[in-house]
Amino acid sequence: MPNRREFLWASQALAILAALNRAHAGTPAQQVASDEDFWREIRRAYLRDPKLINLNNGGVAPSPSLVLEAEIDAIRYSNLLPAQRMWGELEPKIEDTRKRLAALWSADPETIAITRNASESLQIAQFGLDLKPGDEVVTTSQDYPRMITTWQQRERREGIVLRQVDFEVPVRDPGDIVALYERAITPRTRVIHVSQVVFMTGQILPVAEVCALARRHGITSIVDGAHAFAHVPFRFASSADPGQGLDCDFYGASLHKWLSAPIGTGMLYVRRDRVRRHWALMAAPPAMDDNIRKFEEIGTHPAAMHNGIQQALAFHDQMGAERKFARMRYLKQRWAARLTQVKGATLLVGLDPNLSGAFATIQFDGVDPGKLASTLLEKYNIVVVPITGPAMKGKPQFTGIRVSPNVYTSTEEIDTFCEAVEKAVPTLRA
Ligand SMILES: Cc1ncc(COP(=O)(O)O)c(C=O)c1O
Repeated sequence: MPNRREFLWASQALAILAALNRAHAGTPAQQVASDEDFWREIRRAYLRDPKLINLNNGGVAPSPSLVLEAEIDAIRYSNLLPAQRMWGELEPKIEDTRKRLAALWSADPETIAITRNASESLQIAQFGLDLKPGDEVVTTSQDYPRMITTWQQRERREGIVLRQVDFEVPVRDPGDIVALYERAITPRTRVIHVSQVVFMTGQILPVAEVCALARRHGITSIVDGAHAFAHVPFRFASSADPGQGLDCDFYGASLHKWLSAPIGTGMLYVRRDRVRRHWALMAAPPAMDDNIRKFEEIGTHPAAMHNGIQQALAFHDQMGAERKFARMRYLKQRWAARLTQVKGATLLVGLDPNLSGAFATIQFDGVDPGKLASTLLEKYNIVVVPITGPAMKGKPQFTGIRVSPNVYTSTEEIDTFCEAVEKAVPTLRA
Protein backbone atom coordinates (compact mmCIF):
# COMPACT_ATOMS: atom_id res chain seq x y z
CA MET A 1 0.00 0.00 0.00
CA PRO A 2 1.30 3.49 -0.77
CA ASN A 3 2.12 5.57 2.30
CA ARG A 4 0.87 9.11 2.91
CA ARG A 5 4.01 10.70 1.50
CA GLU A 6 3.71 8.64 -1.67
CA PHE A 7 0.05 9.61 -2.07
CA LEU A 8 1.03 13.22 -1.67
CA TRP A 9 3.68 12.82 -4.36
CA ALA A 10 1.14 11.32 -6.78
CA SER A 11 -1.23 14.24 -6.34
CA GLN A 12 1.51 16.84 -6.70
CA ALA A 13 3.70 14.96 -9.15
CA LEU A 14 3.34 17.28 -12.09
CA ALA A 15 3.99 20.38 -10.00
CA ILE A 16 7.12 18.74 -8.52
CA LEU A 17 8.27 17.65 -11.98
CA ALA A 18 7.64 21.08 -13.47
CA ALA A 19 9.79 22.63 -10.72
CA LEU A 20 12.54 20.03 -11.35
CA ASN A 21 12.31 20.71 -15.06
CA ARG A 22 12.67 24.46 -14.56
CA ALA A 23 15.58 24.03 -12.17
CA HIS A 24 17.49 21.93 -14.74
CA ALA A 25 16.45 23.84 -17.86
CA GLY A 26 19.94 24.98 -18.82
CA THR A 27 21.82 21.83 -17.74
CA PRO A 28 22.94 19.43 -20.49
CA ALA A 29 21.08 16.08 -20.43
CA GLN A 30 24.41 14.22 -20.04
CA GLN A 31 25.04 16.08 -16.81
CA VAL A 32 21.55 15.49 -15.41
CA ALA A 33 21.98 11.78 -16.23
CA SER A 34 24.24 11.32 -13.19
CA ASP A 35 22.45 13.76 -10.87
CA GLU A 36 21.10 11.32 -8.29
CA ASP A 37 18.96 14.01 -6.59
CA PHE A 38 17.03 14.52 -9.82
CA TRP A 39 16.46 10.78 -10.36
CA ARG A 40 15.54 10.17 -6.72
CA GLU A 41 12.55 12.46 -7.29
CA ILE A 42 11.60 10.50 -10.41
CA ARG A 43 11.93 7.23 -8.49
CA ARG A 44 9.45 8.54 -5.90
CA ALA A 45 6.88 8.97 -8.67
CA TYR A 46 6.53 5.18 -8.95
CA LEU A 47 5.28 2.52 -6.53
CA ARG A 48 7.43 -0.59 -6.81
CA ASP A 49 7.36 -4.17 -5.61
CA PRO A 50 9.60 -3.81 -2.54
CA LYS A 51 10.85 -7.40 -2.77
CA LEU A 52 12.11 -7.39 -6.35
CA ILE A 53 14.49 -5.43 -8.55
CA ASN A 54 12.75 -5.00 -11.87
CA LEU A 55 15.13 -5.17 -14.81
CA ASN A 56 12.43 -6.15 -17.26
CA ASN A 57 10.85 -2.83 -18.10
CA GLY A 58 11.14 -3.65 -21.78
CA GLY A 59 8.37 -6.26 -21.66
CA VAL A 60 5.88 -3.95 -20.01
CA ALA A 61 6.56 -1.08 -17.63
CA PRO A 62 4.80 0.14 -14.50
CA SER A 63 3.10 3.52 -14.69
CA PRO A 64 4.02 6.36 -12.36
CA SER A 65 1.44 6.79 -9.59
CA LEU A 66 -0.13 9.88 -11.17
CA VAL A 67 -0.95 7.85 -14.30
CA LEU A 68 -2.29 4.94 -12.29
CA GLU A 69 -4.45 7.20 -10.11
CA ALA A 70 -5.92 8.98 -13.15
CA GLU A 71 -6.69 5.62 -14.73
CA ILE A 72 -8.36 4.22 -11.59
CA ASP A 73 -10.32 7.42 -11.00
CA ALA A 74 -11.64 7.27 -14.57
CA ILE A 75 -12.65 3.63 -14.19
CA ARG A 76 -14.55 4.41 -10.98
CA TYR A 77 -16.18 7.46 -12.56
CA SER A 78 -17.16 5.48 -15.68
CA ASN A 79 -18.66 2.67 -13.68
CA LEU A 80 -21.29 4.90 -12.06
CA LEU A 81 -23.11 5.11 -15.39
CA PRO A 82 -20.89 3.87 -18.21
CA ALA A 83 -23.12 4.75 -21.17
CA GLN A 84 -23.19 8.36 -20.08
CA ARG A 85 -20.00 8.92 -18.16
CA MET A 86 -17.67 6.74 -20.22
CA TRP A 87 -19.14 6.96 -23.74
CA GLY A 88 -20.59 10.43 -23.37
CA GLU A 89 -18.06 12.30 -21.26
CA LEU A 90 -14.72 10.47 -21.18
CA GLU A 91 -14.53 8.90 -24.65
CA PRO A 92 -14.38 12.21 -26.58
CA LYS A 93 -11.23 13.10 -24.61
CA ILE A 94 -9.36 10.68 -26.86
CA GLU A 95 -9.01 13.73 -29.14
CA ASP A 96 -6.88 15.51 -26.54
CA THR A 97 -4.68 12.42 -26.26
CA ARG A 98 -4.29 12.32 -30.03
CA LYS A 99 -3.32 16.00 -30.21
CA ARG A 100 -0.80 15.82 -27.35
CA LEU A 101 0.78 12.64 -28.66
CA ALA A 102 1.06 14.12 -32.14
CA ALA A 103 2.52 17.38 -30.85
CA LEU A 104 5.33 15.69 -28.91
CA TRP A 105 6.48 13.71 -31.96
CA SER A 106 5.81 16.52 -34.50
CA ALA A 107 3.05 14.62 -36.29
CA ASP A 108 -0.25 15.80 -37.75
CA PRO A 109 -2.98 14.57 -35.30
CA GLU A 110 -4.83 13.22 -38.34
CA THR A 111 -2.05 10.63 -38.73
CA ILE A 112 -2.30 9.22 -35.19
CA ALA A 113 -4.65 6.44 -34.06
CA ILE A 114 -4.81 5.24 -30.47
CA THR A 115 -4.77 1.46 -30.13
CA ARG A 116 -4.42 -1.09 -27.35
CA ASN A 117 -0.86 -2.21 -28.00
CA ALA A 118 1.86 -2.46 -30.66
CA SER A 119 0.54 -5.79 -31.90
CA GLU A 120 -2.78 -4.21 -32.80
CA SER A 121 -1.11 -1.20 -34.44
CA LEU A 122 1.25 -3.31 -36.51
CA GLN A 123 -1.40 -5.84 -37.49
CA ILE A 124 -3.56 -2.97 -38.75
CA ALA A 125 -0.59 -1.98 -40.91
CA GLN A 126 0.19 -5.55 -42.00
CA PHE A 127 -3.30 -6.84 -42.72
CA GLY A 128 -4.67 -3.64 -44.25
CA LEU A 129 -2.43 -3.69 -47.35
CA ASP A 130 -3.66 -5.22 -50.59
CA LEU A 131 -1.01 -7.78 -51.63
CA LYS A 132 -1.02 -10.32 -54.44
CA PRO A 133 0.36 -13.87 -54.45
CA GLY A 134 4.12 -13.65 -54.98
CA ASP A 135 4.42 -10.12 -53.54
CA GLU A 136 7.35 -9.97 -51.17
CA VAL A 137 7.80 -8.59 -47.66
CA VAL A 138 11.32 -8.08 -46.34
CA THR A 139 12.11 -8.15 -42.63
CA THR A 140 14.77 -9.66 -40.36
CA SER A 141 15.05 -12.85 -38.33
CA GLN A 142 15.30 -10.64 -35.21
CA ASP A 143 11.88 -9.04 -35.62
CA TYR A 144 9.08 -9.67 -33.15
CA PRO A 145 7.56 -13.18 -33.36
CA ARG A 146 3.93 -12.01 -33.43
CA MET A 147 4.61 -9.70 -36.33
CA ILE A 148 6.43 -12.51 -38.17
CA THR A 149 3.48 -14.82 -37.45
CA THR A 150 1.18 -12.20 -38.97
CA TRP A 151 3.11 -12.17 -42.25
CA GLN A 152 3.29 -15.99 -42.17
CA GLN A 153 -0.49 -16.18 -41.90
CA ARG A 154 -0.70 -14.00 -45.04
CA GLU A 155 1.78 -16.39 -46.69
CA ARG A 156 -0.45 -19.38 -45.91
CA ARG A 157 -3.68 -17.62 -46.76
CA GLU A 158 -2.75 -15.48 -49.77
CA GLY A 159 0.56 -16.79 -51.08
CA ILE A 160 2.66 -13.72 -50.35
CA VAL A 161 6.37 -14.34 -49.70
CA LEU A 162 8.17 -13.37 -46.50
CA ARG A 163 11.94 -12.86 -46.70
CA GLN A 164 13.72 -12.69 -43.35
CA VAL A 165 17.30 -11.52 -43.56
CA ASP A 166 19.86 -12.42 -40.89
CA PHE A 167 22.42 -10.05 -39.47
CA GLU A 168 25.37 -10.41 -37.14
CA VAL A 169 25.36 -8.97 -33.62
CA PRO A 170 26.59 -6.61 -32.40
CA VAL A 171 25.97 -4.32 -35.36
CA ARG A 172 29.07 -2.14 -35.76
CA ASP A 173 27.93 0.05 -38.65
CA PRO A 174 24.23 0.95 -39.05
CA GLY A 175 24.96 1.40 -42.77
CA ASP A 176 25.36 -2.41 -42.98
CA ILE A 177 21.68 -2.80 -42.07
CA VAL A 178 20.58 -0.41 -44.81
CA ALA A 179 22.77 -2.35 -47.28
CA LEU A 180 21.26 -5.62 -46.04
CA TYR A 181 17.72 -4.42 -46.76
CA GLU A 182 18.83 -3.01 -50.10
CA ARG A 183 20.30 -6.37 -51.19
CA ALA A 184 17.05 -8.14 -50.27
CA ILE A 185 14.92 -5.93 -52.56
CA THR A 186 13.62 -7.62 -55.73
CA PRO A 187 11.12 -6.44 -58.38
CA ARG A 188 8.41 -8.17 -56.27
CA THR A 189 9.20 -6.40 -52.98
CA ARG A 190 6.16 -4.49 -51.76
CA VAL A 191 6.87 -4.02 -48.05
CA ILE A 192 9.87 -3.38 -45.82
CA HIS A 193 9.19 -4.12 -42.16
CA VAL A 194 11.86 -2.90 -39.73
CA SER A 195 12.27 -2.64 -35.96
CA GLN A 196 13.51 0.68 -34.66
CA VAL A 197 14.90 -1.13 -31.60
CA VAL A 198 15.43 -4.90 -31.79
CA PHE A 199 13.61 -6.53 -28.86
CA MET A 200 16.18 -9.33 -28.54
CA THR A 201 19.25 -7.16 -28.04
CA GLY A 202 18.32 -3.46 -27.70
CA GLN A 203 20.02 -2.71 -31.03
CA ILE A 204 18.88 0.60 -32.55
CA LEU A 205 18.42 0.26 -36.32
CA PRO A 206 18.72 3.14 -38.83
CA VAL A 207 15.00 3.28 -39.58
CA ALA A 208 15.03 6.73 -41.22
CA GLU A 209 17.56 5.49 -43.81
CA VAL A 210 15.74 2.17 -44.32
CA CYS A 211 12.43 4.02 -44.86
CA ALA A 212 14.11 6.44 -47.28
CA LEU A 213 15.43 3.41 -49.18
CA ALA A 214 11.91 1.96 -49.30
CA ARG A 215 10.50 5.24 -50.57
CA ARG A 216 13.09 5.49 -53.36
CA HIS A 217 11.98 2.05 -54.55
CA GLY A 218 8.23 2.72 -54.20
CA ILE A 219 8.02 0.17 -51.38
CA THR A 220 5.74 0.52 -48.33
CA SER A 221 7.62 0.92 -45.05
CA ILE A 222 6.36 -0.36 -41.70
CA VAL A 223 8.34 0.51 -38.58
CA ASP A 224 7.94 -1.56 -35.44
CA GLY A 225 8.51 1.07 -32.78
CA ALA A 226 7.29 -1.04 -29.84
CA HIS A 227 10.62 -0.74 -28.06
CA ALA A 228 11.64 2.66 -29.38
CA PHE A 229 8.75 5.02 -28.75
CA ALA A 230 9.41 7.42 -25.81
CA HIS A 231 12.82 5.76 -25.46
CA VAL A 232 14.92 6.76 -28.50
CA PRO A 233 14.27 10.44 -29.26
CA PHE A 234 12.96 11.01 -32.81
CA ARG A 235 10.18 12.84 -34.61
CA PHE A 236 8.00 12.11 -37.58
CA ALA A 237 8.66 13.86 -40.90
CA SER A 238 6.48 16.88 -41.41
CA SER A 239 5.73 19.05 -44.43
CA ALA A 240 6.73 22.06 -42.31
CA ASP A 241 10.29 20.76 -42.17
CA PRO A 242 10.97 18.76 -45.37
CA GLY A 243 13.80 16.20 -45.37
CA GLN A 244 13.85 15.92 -41.56
CA GLY A 245 12.37 13.24 -39.30
CA LEU A 246 11.19 9.69 -39.88
CA ASP A 247 9.29 9.41 -43.17
CA CYS A 248 7.70 5.98 -42.85
CA ASP A 249 4.31 4.86 -44.13
CA PHE A 250 3.27 3.09 -40.92
CA TYR A 251 4.65 3.14 -37.38
CA GLY A 252 3.27 0.99 -34.56
CA ALA A 253 4.20 1.28 -30.90
CA SER A 254 3.25 0.16 -27.43
CA LEU A 255 2.69 3.00 -24.98
CA HIS A 256 2.84 0.67 -21.95
CA LYS A 257 6.55 0.10 -22.48
CA TRP A 258 8.78 3.16 -22.52
CA LEU A 259 6.09 5.82 -22.14
CA SER A 260 4.83 4.15 -18.92
CA ALA A 261 1.25 4.81 -20.07
CA PRO A 262 -1.63 2.61 -18.83
CA ILE A 263 -1.22 -1.06 -19.65
CA GLY A 264 -3.26 -1.76 -22.77
CA THR A 265 -2.32 1.32 -24.79
CA GLY A 266 -0.59 1.70 -28.14
CA MET A 267 -0.35 4.09 -31.06
CA LEU A 268 -0.38 3.82 -34.83
CA TYR A 269 1.00 6.44 -37.21
CA VAL A 270 -0.25 6.28 -40.79
CA ARG A 271 1.26 8.67 -43.32
CA ARG A 272 -1.54 11.07 -44.27
CA ASP A 273 -1.64 10.01 -47.94
CA ARG A 274 -1.93 6.33 -46.93
CA VAL A 275 -5.02 6.58 -44.73
CA ARG A 276 -7.63 6.49 -47.50
CA ARG A 277 -6.46 3.33 -49.27
CA HIS A 278 -5.61 1.32 -46.15
CA TRP A 279 -8.12 -1.25 -44.87
CA ALA A 280 -9.00 -1.19 -41.16
CA LEU A 281 -8.68 -4.39 -39.13
CA MET A 282 -12.19 -3.98 -37.77
CA ALA A 283 -14.49 -2.65 -40.44
CA ALA A 284 -15.46 1.03 -40.63
CA PRO A 285 -18.06 2.69 -42.92
CA PRO A 286 -16.97 4.27 -46.26
CA ALA A 287 -17.63 7.74 -44.80
CA MET A 288 -14.59 7.12 -42.59
CA ASP A 289 -12.30 6.03 -45.46
CA ASP A 290 -10.04 9.05 -45.19
CA ASN A 291 -10.31 9.36 -41.42
CA ILE A 292 -7.56 8.06 -39.12
CA ARG A 293 -10.29 7.20 -36.57
CA LYS A 294 -11.41 4.29 -38.76
CA PHE A 295 -8.57 2.34 -37.13
CA GLU A 296 -10.16 2.89 -33.70
CA GLU A 297 -13.53 1.29 -34.54
CA ILE A 298 -13.06 -1.51 -32.03
CA GLY A 299 -16.33 -1.50 -30.10
CA THR A 300 -16.71 -0.87 -26.38
CA HIS A 301 -13.47 -0.36 -24.49
CA PRO A 302 -12.38 1.52 -21.35
CA ALA A 303 -11.83 5.23 -22.02
CA ALA A 304 -9.71 5.31 -18.84
CA MET A 305 -6.79 3.72 -20.68
CA HIS A 306 -6.45 6.05 -23.64
CA ASN A 307 -7.16 9.11 -21.50
CA GLY A 308 -4.49 8.06 -18.97
CA ILE A 309 -1.93 8.42 -21.78
CA GLN A 310 -2.19 12.18 -21.21
CA GLN A 311 -0.70 11.98 -17.71
CA ALA A 312 2.07 9.73 -19.04
CA LEU A 313 2.82 12.26 -21.80
CA ALA A 314 2.98 15.10 -19.28
CA PHE A 315 5.33 13.03 -17.09
CA HIS A 316 7.56 12.17 -20.06
CA ASP A 317 7.59 15.77 -21.26
CA GLN A 318 8.49 17.28 -17.88
CA MET A 319 11.16 14.66 -17.25
CA GLY A 320 12.51 15.51 -20.71
CA ALA A 321 12.99 13.01 -23.56
CA GLU A 322 16.72 13.76 -23.88
CA ARG A 323 17.32 13.53 -20.12
CA LYS A 324 15.44 10.26 -19.98
CA PHE A 325 17.48 8.79 -22.84
CA ALA A 326 20.73 10.01 -21.27
CA ARG A 327 19.83 8.56 -17.84
CA MET A 328 18.83 5.19 -19.23
CA ARG A 329 22.07 5.03 -21.22
CA TYR A 330 23.99 6.01 -18.08
CA LEU A 331 22.47 3.08 -16.16
CA LYS A 332 23.16 0.66 -19.02
CA GLN A 333 26.72 1.92 -19.26
CA ARG A 334 27.18 1.29 -15.52
CA TRP A 335 26.20 -2.37 -15.58
CA ALA A 336 27.67 -3.08 -19.03
CA ALA A 337 31.11 -1.68 -18.12
CA ARG A 338 31.24 -3.92 -15.05
CA LEU A 339 29.73 -7.12 -16.44
CA THR A 340 31.78 -7.17 -19.63
CA GLN A 341 34.74 -7.79 -17.27
CA VAL A 342 33.22 -11.18 -16.33
CA LYS A 343 35.07 -14.02 -18.08
CA GLY A 344 33.31 -15.11 -21.29
CA ALA A 345 30.93 -12.11 -21.37
CA THR A 346 29.89 -10.47 -24.65
CA LEU A 347 27.59 -7.48 -24.90
CA LEU A 348 25.39 -7.99 -27.96
CA VAL A 349 25.12 -4.28 -28.83
CA GLY A 350 27.52 -1.38 -29.21
CA LEU A 351 27.31 1.36 -26.60
CA ASP A 352 27.17 4.46 -28.81
CA PRO A 353 23.86 6.37 -28.67
CA ASN A 354 23.10 5.48 -32.29
CA LEU A 355 23.55 1.78 -31.47
CA SER A 356 21.76 1.24 -28.17
CA GLY A 357 19.76 3.08 -25.55
CA ALA A 358 18.11 1.91 -22.34
CA PHE A 359 18.63 -1.81 -22.58
CA ALA A 360 21.00 -4.45 -23.83
CA THR A 361 21.53 -8.20 -23.85
CA ILE A 362 24.66 -9.80 -22.50
CA GLN A 363 25.84 -13.30 -23.30
CA PHE A 364 27.98 -15.44 -20.97
CA ASP A 365 29.73 -18.29 -22.76
CA GLY A 366 28.67 -21.70 -21.48
CA VAL A 367 25.82 -20.30 -19.37
CA ASP A 368 22.20 -21.18 -20.09
CA PRO A 369 20.34 -17.82 -20.01
CA GLY A 370 17.17 -19.47 -18.65
CA LYS A 371 19.11 -20.86 -15.69
CA LEU A 372 20.84 -17.55 -15.10
CA ALA A 373 17.50 -15.68 -15.15
CA SER A 374 15.89 -18.13 -12.71
CA THR A 375 18.92 -18.02 -10.38
CA LEU A 376 18.77 -14.22 -10.38
CA LEU A 377 15.09 -14.37 -9.51
CA GLU A 378 15.13 -17.15 -6.96
CA LYS A 379 18.36 -16.33 -5.15
CA TYR A 380 18.68 -12.60 -5.64
CA ASN A 381 15.10 -11.31 -6.30
CA ILE A 382 16.08 -9.75 -9.62
CA VAL A 383 13.92 -9.93 -12.74
CA VAL A 384 15.63 -10.15 -16.17
CA VAL A 385 14.64 -11.88 -19.43
CA PRO A 386 16.44 -14.86 -20.96
CA ILE A 387 16.87 -14.38 -24.71
CA THR A 388 17.50 -16.94 -27.44
CA GLY A 389 18.44 -15.51 -30.82
CA PRO A 390 17.12 -16.81 -34.15
CA ALA A 391 18.27 -20.23 -35.31
CA MET A 392 21.32 -20.11 -37.57
CA LYS A 393 22.90 -23.27 -39.00
CA GLY A 394 20.81 -25.36 -36.59
CA LYS A 395 21.67 -23.48 -33.40
CA PRO A 396 20.77 -20.15 -31.78
CA GLN A 397 22.77 -17.28 -33.25
CA PHE A 398 23.22 -15.93 -29.70
CA THR A 399 21.78 -16.25 -26.21
CA GLY A 400 21.90 -13.97 -23.19
CA ILE A 401 19.95 -12.09 -20.58
CA ARG A 402 18.16 -8.89 -21.52
CA VAL A 403 18.55 -6.17 -18.93
CA SER A 404 16.11 -3.27 -19.10
CA PRO A 405 16.16 -0.82 -16.18
CA ASN A 406 13.93 2.25 -16.18
CA VAL A 407 14.08 5.86 -15.06
CA TYR A 408 13.14 4.82 -11.51
CA THR A 409 15.97 2.26 -11.24
CA SER A 410 18.62 3.33 -8.71
CA THR A 411 22.37 2.96 -9.17
CA GLU A 412 22.35 0.81 -5.98
CA GLU A 413 19.98 -1.62 -7.71
CA ILE A 414 22.28 -1.75 -10.74
CA ASP A 415 25.24 -2.53 -8.48
CA THR A 416 23.30 -5.24 -6.61
CA PHE A 417 22.44 -6.80 -9.96
CA CYS A 418 26.08 -6.76 -11.09
CA GLU A 419 27.21 -8.41 -7.88
CA ALA A 420 24.55 -11.12 -8.24
CA VAL A 421 25.63 -11.89 -11.82
CA GLU A 422 29.29 -12.01 -10.82
CA LYS A 423 28.42 -14.58 -8.16
CA ALA A 424 25.92 -16.60 -10.22
CA VAL A 425 27.75 -16.95 -13.54
CA PRO A 426 30.71 -19.09 -12.34
CA THR A 427 28.30 -21.50 -10.58
CA LEU A 428 26.29 -22.02 -13.79
CA ARG A 429 29.06 -22.55 -16.29
CA ALA A 430 28.59 -25.86 -18.10
C1 LIG B 1 9.55 -5.43 -31.22
C2 LIG B 1 8.19 -5.67 -30.66
N1 LIG B 1 7.14 -5.54 -31.45
C3 LIG B 1 5.88 -5.72 -31.01
C4 LIG B 1 5.64 -6.07 -29.70
C5 LIG B 1 4.24 -6.28 -29.23
O1 LIG B 1 3.92 -5.32 -28.28
P1 LIG B 1 2.55 -5.38 -27.50
O2 LIG B 1 2.72 -6.45 -26.47
O3 LIG B 1 2.39 -4.02 -26.93
O4 LIG B 1 1.51 -5.71 -28.46
C6 LIG B 1 6.71 -6.24 -28.82
C7 LIG B 1 6.50 -6.63 -27.43
O5 LIG B 1 7.38 -6.88 -26.65
C8 LIG B 1 8.02 -6.03 -29.31
O6 LIG B 1 9.09 -6.19 -28.53
